[in-house]
Amino acid sequence: MRKIAIINQKGGSGKTTTVVNLGYYLAEYGRKVLLVDLDPQAHTTIHLGFEPPEVKKSLYDLLVNQTPLSEVLKQTKYKNLDLIPSKIELASAEIELVNEVGREIILRKILIQNKVKYDYIIMDCPPSLGLLTLNALTTAKEIFIPIQAEFFALEGLTKLFQTIKIVKERVNPELNITGIIITMYDRRKNICRDVEKKVEEHFKDKVFKTRIRENVRLAEAPSYGKVIGDFDKTCYGAEDFKSLAKEVIKQENKK
Ligand SMILES: Nc1ncnc2c1ncn2[C@@H]1O[C@H](COP(=O)(O)OP(=O)(O)O)[C@@H](O)[C@H]1O
Ligand SMILES: [Mg+2]
Repeated sequence: MRKIAIINQKGGSGKTTTVVNLGYYLAEYGRKVLLVDLDPQAHTTIHLGFEPPEVKKSLYDLLVNQTPLSEVLKQTKYKNLDLIPSKIELASAEIELVNEVGREIILRKILIQNKVKYDYIIMDCPPSLGLLTLNALTTAKEIFIPIQAEFFALEGLTKLFQTIKIVKERVNPELNITGIIITMYDRRKNICRDVEKKVEEHFKDKVFKTRIRENVRLAEAPSYGKVIGDFDKTCYGAEDFKSLAKEVIKQENKK
């Protein structure tokens, strides 16, 4: 079972788009996939076609109210693709759990206690390094960082690395960055090629070969509650996420 946190505390770096569409293609290729929406904005949940009122129980109930996993877990309309949904109330979880011992490892414990079995658990993190992100980092074994190919892309990564290092040292020695995804890429723009070069120099073979190109269809799909392979399976965005999924599957042999 691969447990992957998709993380970058910078908003708009392509986390949610990656979680939903990579998750979908992995499921298409026959993997059993669980997505966990740790962002109170619930974009992953909405992107998969769940309107907020439809979500009776969310990750919030799982973390704060000890609601059984079976009441929270949802099957999506896509085969092999399940979801632990989010809801806006998750925003107060950090405060409500402030006095809870072991609050950084609640998700990990729940998944272990329920003997949850998937080929992939993919976690969508909020744009912060708070308690929810910590829960993803203690649960994960791998980290994928989507990096938007633009000027401020590399800012803030140092802080992210520090956080990862602390979690690795104190709680989760197995944790490693195993993939960098360059997103919203446009080969014609100098800035994109500059960022690409810097990212490759720094992360070397951790950078996936696939570039997720800028593609308006990817930005349109969420409002229809559809993954890209369902919304428009011939667009660049679909092609790119399919190719990324193949690369991720290739890593399985190395694990
Ligand atoms: N490759 C892309 N091309 C065009 N728009 C994109 C692409 N990837 C993401 N977007 C759009 O950019 C915005 C931010 O992406 P999102 O995945 O929500 O980032 P994050 O979850 O990191 O905040 C969203 O509106 C999304 O639809
Ligand atoms: Mg997001």
